[in-house]
Amino acid sequence: MARIPDAFIDDLLARTDIVEVIGARVPLKRQGKEYAARCPFHDERSASFTVSQTKQFYHCFGCGAHGTAISFMMNFDRLEFLDAVDELAKRVGMEIPRDTQQRNANPETRDLYGAMEAASTFFRSQLANSEKARAYVERRGIAAEIVERYAIGYAPDGFSALRDALGTDPGRMQLMERGGLFSKNDRGNVYDKFRDRLMFPIHDRRGRTIAFGGRVIDPEDSPKYLNSPETALFHKGRELYGLWQAKQANAKLERLIVVEGYMDVVALAQYGVSQAVATLGTATTPDHAELLFRNAPDVYFCFDGDRAGRSAAWKALESVLPRMKDGRQAFFLFLPDGEDPDSIVRKEGVAGFDARLRDATPLSEFFYASLSSDVNLSSLDGKARLAERCKPLLAQIPDGAFGDLMQQRLTELTGVGTRASTPQTHVPVKRATHSSRGTPAQKPSLVRGAITHLLHRPALALDLQPPYRFAALRQPGIELLSELVLLVRERPEISTGALLEHFEGREEVGALQKLATLELPGEAANLRDEFIDAIAQLDIQVLQQRIEELQQQQRDGGLDADGKQEMRELLQAQRR
Ligand code: UTP
Ligand code: MN
Repeated sequence: MARIPDAFIDDLLARTDIVEVIGARVPLKRQGKEYAARCPFHDERSASFTVSQTKQFYHCFGCGAHGTAISFMMNFDRLEFLDAVDELAKRVGMEIPRDTQQRNANPETRDLYGAMEAASTFFRSQLANSEKARAYVERRGIAAEIVERYAIGYAPDGFSALRDALGTDPGRMQLMERGGLFSKNDRGNVYDKFRDRLMFPIHDRRGRTIAFGGRVIDPEDSPKYLNSPETALFHKGRELYGLWQAKQANAKLERLIVVEGYMDVVALAQYGVSQAVATLGTATTPDHAELLFRNAPDVYFCFDGDRAGRSAAWKALESVLPRMKDGRQAFFLFLPDGEDPDSIVRKEGVAGFDARLRDATPLSEFFYASLSSDVNLSSLDGKARLAERCKPLLAQIPDGAFGDLMQQRLTELTGVGTRASTPQTHVPVKRATHSSRGTPAQKPSLVRGAITHLLHRPALALDLQPPYRFAALRQPGIELLSELVLLVRERPEISTGALLEHFEGREEVGALQKLATLELPGEAANLRDEFIDAIAQLDIQVLQQRIEELQQQQRDGGLDADGKQEMRELLQAQRR
């Protein structure tokens, strides 16, 4: 794979504020020079996750997760390297060098996105052209603005409208097949999968079209909704219809509302509820739950009030429980028989729908109501039964206040606690201060000190002039120090985070991580002097090392004239 030039990455990371990038996704608290949060990559009570603005990196003392703004985007938003770079570059108005862009992108995937986009454009133009389809849109009361925002289109009747329009060459045909746009009959003939349907493109979280959902127009046709099959781009258990538009419409999503259908999402948006998303004809998966909470702290699940709706809600609850970290809340909203959000919002308006949201059932209530619906809580037997049922489910909740409250509620209901004891006050584990974090007690060596300083402020290396005498020292860490100095000379803008990234996969990375996260004693202003001083001392040690070498030669058989001359000069230099 062709690489994006290091200089571009360094520049990008230098212009990116990692605190802003992470802060938009994880609530950060200022803590001295750094920022802290509960780690988004593992479940924990304490805030072991730190973000450093000066070093432009993050580090979790609990699980060891670490990296730059780029690796954060990759791990948190689950982006590929290039997509992460692309996102960050867009934020700061930089453009990825063109040739690398093209060499990098997987051409097959890129073309597949292109084919999906072309199909979407085709369907939209067909909607504009079809009187019948436009009449249907009108009948459903979908406003032009919403048709536009959700890129709704129409797949014409017949078996080859899309194929005739876009499948003009074998390459394109193949792409559209891989995109799930065609079906095949027994004789191997390929025909349009979507026919005479209103088309809802499904966008990924970067706004690219990856699949479609199509609703019949003729009520005689079935199935009512037809979705794209799973493809290289589309995994329905991991996507949410409308999430892209919700993110576009809300600078910060305070809540997401999960509904069942495409029509519900677009109708709510039309009435101003722009935070609705839909699972795509599947139950809410754990992947959905994670995706939902990564985008908003409060999630409302909206279901029919019938039995099917309640059972779907319970499935959603099961997916959500293991994701209920502190700060996250889930609610369940059950609609009257025969209604869906589309019909409700049209009848009751946004005020009516909002009122229902305010009345939604909190997860805890739905949980205990469901589990105790068939037990008699006034009998010991019933209480024991409820406690028994809750045990495996409560065990899935991450440590935190929510888990404690759920536990408390169970104790209220049954008098039984499932955990041996739930300590109300918990002693903070070890790491009270930064300086006690994983630093060996021994007196730090000069080399180690110099490396630490460099890690904290890489640009210090630019203050050193070659030749680097200290590089000749035979001491642990000298090679690493030299490598760091040379690396910074090559990449003058490199940040701590990028520097650490450079060592990823090498055995030194663990030690470097530790040194980079140390809190340096003393004034930041003195950093440079201390560093220069350490290097000067190392340079002197090189003299000493050479003197000792020559002395050894002398003992072994004497020095020649040159050797003696060098010795004199060295001793003089040492005195200076
Ligand atoms: P509904 O049948 O409740 O449809 O299916 P709806 O959204 O209210 O649609 P309208 O108002 O009749 O147009 C809800 C959702 O379930 C999925 C779709 O995602 C649909 O939006 N579904 C339904 C399918 O995937 N296939 C089907 O055959 C039916
Ligand atoms: Mn409906």
